Amino acid sequence: MTEADALFARAVDVMPGGNTRSTLFVRPHPPYAVRGEGPYVVDSAGHRAIDCNNNYTALIHGHADPEILAAVASVAANGTAFGLPTTYEVEMAEALGARMGLPHWRFCNSGTEAVMMMVRGARAHTGRDVVVRFDGSYHGTYDGVVSTDARGVPGSAAGGSIVLPQNDVGALADAMRRHGDRVAAILLDLMPNRAGLRPVSREFATAARALSTAHGALLAVDEVITFRLGVGGFHRSYGMSPDLVSLGKVIGGGFPVGAVGGRADVLAAFSPLGDGSVGWGGTFSANPVTMAAGMVALRRFADTDVAELNAKGDRLRQQLAGAGLTVNGHGSLLRVMVEDMTATWWRLYEAGVLAGTNGLLALSTAMTDDVVDLVGARVIDAVRTG
Ligand SMILES: Cc1ncc(COP(=O)(O)O)c(C=O)c1O
Repeated sequence: MTEADALFARAVDVMPGGNTRSTLFVRPHPPYAVRGEGPYVVDSAGHRAIDCNNNYTALIHGHADPEILAAVASVAANGTAFGLPTTYEVEMAEALGARMGLPHWRFCNSGTEAVMMMVRGARAHTGRDVVVRFDGSYHGTYDGVVSTDARGVPGSAAGGSIVLPQNDVGALADAMRRHGDRVAAILLDLMPNRAGLRPVSREFATAARALSTAHGALLAVDEVITFRLGVGGFHRSYGMSPDLVSLGKVIGGGFPVGAVGGRADVLAAFSPLGDGSVGWGGTFSANPVTMAAGMVALRRFADTDVAELNAKGDRLRQQLAGAGLTVNGHGSLLRVMVEDMTATWWRLYEAGVLAGTNGLLALSTAMTDDVVDLVGARVIDAVRTG
């Protein structure tokens, strides 16, 4: 029995299926990470893989980045969380505002929470209940944004959503014509991973903006995963201005985070200075450790850094496509499409590449060109031997 088998046997005794994150489970059980070093992850058997999972796209600078660790150590030495606001959250809100062109921000601890807060804010601002969202888009695990027939989701949740096919302008226009006066927001991921990591068409993005405005609804863009594709998020490349944006992952510098940015009049729904404000706490929201780590991560991910990383992703995509693989995505996010993903995932892992369980590859600035070339060669090999 390997050390990982033994750990899994212990885990099964204390956690259902030995698991706490459905998203990272692979049969028979995943390896156990013990260490990360820049672009590499090392497991309990001492196996070292190039980490193209990067904690599901979050670790933009790879593992154990010295500058982030130094910032965390220095901040943590003065306390890790307070029942008072700190300067760090103000600095982070200023930095995100400058970067994203959205004036107001609020923080939380995950992308799931950011989407929950964004939806609550949209409903509070508009006084309407319904969220229009798109088939195959993942927005976290909150009742209001998962499949309405998923186990454990109350039947009442169905009334809060209209789910439409992705990228279908006609279906969106028709739904807005019929139900637009009840719609609080159109919730859009511009390149949904679960739906195949294909960017939506410009026509669809433009229609979503125009139709939300025409019907008095808000446009809420979920950039939890796509933020890394452009310095002000992916929506900039569509030339669009959302009313609300949700962020997570990258902006925490490796620590738990979520954020909602938006128009001042929309996020005013949460202002304790106003009458009847929406109450929204979060014991660890905007904690100084996350904020300080995130500030370093963002400072080191400015225009040229974003462009360089995207160029590495484009080159890798060309390498894979040139070898006949089906590969989707944009910039530093790629998804290799294969039939038997579990078998391919294991072949890849054994060859020294950690991917997402659905074939997602997320690059980090810790990867040199040589490392990215090696990823390409190993992916081609693993897919071809399948
Ligand atoms: C687009 C999108 N929204 C929301 C989430 C949920 O984020 P978290 O896992 O931090 O709760 C994810 C997670 O992958 C995501 O990809």
